[in-house]
Amino acid sequence: MSRIIMGIESSCDETGVGLVRLHDDGTVELLADEVASSVEQHARFGGVVPEVASRAHLEAMVPTTERAFATAGLSLSDVDAIAVTAGPGLAGALLVGVSAAKAYATALDVPLYGVNHLAGHIAVDTLQHGPLPTPCLALLVSGGHTQLLRVDDIASEITELGSTVDDAAGEAYDKVARVLGLPYPGGPPIDKAAKNGDPAAIAFPRGMTGPRDAKNDFSFSGLKTSVARWVEGAGRRGEEIPVDDVAASFQEAVADVLTMKAVRAAKELGIGTIVISGGVAANSRLSSLAAERCAAAGIELRVPRPRLCTDNGAMIAALGAHVVAAKRPTAPLDFSADPALPV
Ligand code: KG4
Ligand code: ZN
Repeated sequence: MSRIIMGIESSCDETGVGLVRLHDDGTVELLADEVASSVEQHARFGGVVPEVASRAHLEAMVPTTERAFATAGLSLSDVDAIAVTAGPGLAGALLVGVSAAKAYATALDVPLYGVNHLAGHIAVDTLQHGPLPTPCLALLVSGGHTQLLRVDDIASEITELGSTVDDAAGEAYDKVARVLGLPYPGGPPIDKAAKNGDPAAIAFPRGMTGPRDAKNDFSFSGLKTSVARWVEGAGRRGEEIPVDDVAASFQEAVADVLTMKAVRAAKELGIGTIVISGGVAANSRLSSLAAERCAAAGIELRVPRPRLCTDNGAMIAALGAHVVAAKRPTAPLDFSADPALPV
C-alpha cells in the first residue's frame, strides 16, 4: 500500500510544504509543492533577517499547508508520516517548522522524522530523475552552503568531502550583485547580465586551486573582494562599469571552480554520477559547464529543475519518504531543531 508523506521546510526564508506518495517499489511521486517566500521582506537589507523570517514562517505555515493539501486533492487524515527540517538553518525559523510538524504529528497520530536540510537538497532529485545511483557525488550550492558530498545512501550515509572555508557560492553572487547595483537575491540578475557579457573580459581569481590548497574545499571571499576592487578602481578612474562583462567574468570563475572540483573528485573516487542542487544550481553557466565537463569525463549529470533546487517542502517530503522506506528511527516528540546539524 502506498504511503503519503508530508514535508515541512522552514530553515531560511522559504516556508515550504510538500506532499509525496511513496510507492511500494520505493519510487517517490510528487503530489504538491507549495512555497511562501519572505525574500521581498529581506531585499532592502541585502540578506535574510532572522526575526523577519521567523515571523513570516509563523504567518505562512497554515495557509501554505492548506494550499498543499488542496493542490494534491488530499486531506490531513491521508498523511501517513511527517518529515521536517531539523537543521541546519536559522534557529528561530527552524523552530516554527518543527513546532508545526510536532503539532500535526500529534494531532494525526503519525510518525515524525527530523531530517537534514542538506540531504533534502539531494533527495529532491529523485522526484524528477528517479532513484539515485549510489555512490554518487553531490555538489550542493546555495545561499548558505557550498559542499561536496559523497552519497552512499540518501537516508543514512552521506559524507562531506569538502566545503567552503568562507562565503557560500550564493552569498558571493548576492554580494557581487550589490557591488554592481543589481537587486537581491543576486543570482538571477547576474545570470541574466552575464548572457550579454564576455566571460573572458576580466581574469578574476579561482580560489583554493593552488597546489597546496585542500582539493575539495572552496573559497569565494577572495573572488568577491577582487570584483569589488575592480569595480571601485574603474569608478575611481571615472570609467563606466561594464556590468555585463563583470557579471560574466565573475560567473565564469565560480562555475569553473565548482565544476572542476566536482568532476575531479568524482573521477578520483570512481563515481559515475554527479547531482548539483541548491539555489545556485539554477545558474545557466554552472549547468552548461558542468554538462560539458561531465560529458567529457563520461559522468552522468543530474540537475533538478530550478523550482526543486531552491528551498521547498517537496525536498523534505522526498527525503522523508526515503527515510520511511529505509525504516529509520522516528524522532521523539521532544526533539529540537539543531541550527548547526551536520550532514
Ligand atoms: O537554496 P536557496 O534557495 O536558499 C538557501 O538555502 O540558501 O539558494 C539561494 C541562493 C541565493 O544566494 C541566490 O542568489 C542563488 O541561490 N541563486 C542563483 C541563481 N538563482 C538563485 N545563483 C546563481 N544563478 C542563479 N540563476
Ligand atoms: Zn537550502
